[in-house]
Amino acid sequence: MTITELLHEAGRRLRKGGSPSPSLDAEVLLARCLGVERIDLYARADLAVEPDQRNRYLDAVARRVKGEPVAYIVGKKEFWSLELAVTADTLIPRPDTETVVEEAIRLMKRGFPRGGSILDVGTGSGAIAVALASELEETTITASDISERALLLARENAIATGTAGRIFFVCTDLFESLTEKFVMIVSNPPYIAEEAYRILPPGVRCFEPEKALIAGPRGTEFHGRLIEGAPSRLCDNGWLVMEIGDGQWNEVESMFQNDHRWDCIHVVRDLAGNDRVAAARRRS
Ligand SMILES: C[S@@+](CC[C@H](N)C(=O)[O-])C[C@H]1O[C@@H](n2cnc3c(N)ncnc32)[C@H](O)[C@@H]1O
Repeated sequence: MTITELLHEAGRRLRKGGSPSPSLDAEVLLARCLGVERIDLYARADLAVEPDQRNRYLDAVARRVKGEPVAYIVGKKEFWSLELAVTADTLIPRPDTETVVEEAIRLMKRGFPRGGSILDVGTGSGAIAVALASELEETTITASDISERALLLARENAIATGTAGRIFFVCTDLFESLTEKFVMIVSNPPYIAEEAYRILPPGVRCFEPEKALIAGPRGTEFHGRLIEGAPSRLCDNGWLVMEIGDGQWNEVESMFQNDHRWDCIHVVRDLAGNDRVAAARRRS
């Protein structure tokens, strides 16, 4: 079979399987199997594909038809223009989370122009930590997670992006084994409510780790724990910057307001116009 014929066949199977983007999925998976860029597929459209490559490709297509996210099948995902490795041990980094990175950089440049240390709680693949380390060259980052396996992957991503020299990895439940003080704490914590989890798309529910997603009955439990615990781990005027889910801002804002250790409480919208990041400054 040629590349064109294979793409056609894969597109048909993916469409029948309900993929929302069958042509794109077919191309991304084939490019990965052949070890070429997507654009190269068109230059080689009439090239015959070796039987073992074809079989590996159709296996990958079958995984996608069963709902597995493309990022897990190809083992990588772009975040902040960095290519990160992803496995089923970690959440696939989302474009929404780039709003956390943007706000963290904005606040760091405003308040702490030189150095200082940032804590990324629940680092997962290391997406936020690696992105911040790539932008803030005088800053060191502590990347923590409760999952040892996630931390192994985060370290791999730090090495691959040349940021490992400034990132330290700690396995801990939130702040438990941390004694240092930070100028900023960033986090994309689990924030899905138990009820909402049951109706998530199967591609998320069946493949991404539950521990990375579910917060508790309300969805804002981790935000509450971060607001409660962060002041003792932040320097005076240090910032807490957290990703929030749709409809969570009012509750998170109230939690900040009811805890009198915070000021400059604010929300940042993502590119789609949804409230996505809640941030506040520890009073001095
Ligand atoms: C929503 S994922 C975010 C991953 C990554 N930061 C990102 O933005 O793609 C939440 C992460 O928090 C971690 N986590 C869950 N409970 C935790 C806890 N009690 N303490 C530390 N990390 C935790 C999970 O293992 C997961 O990696």
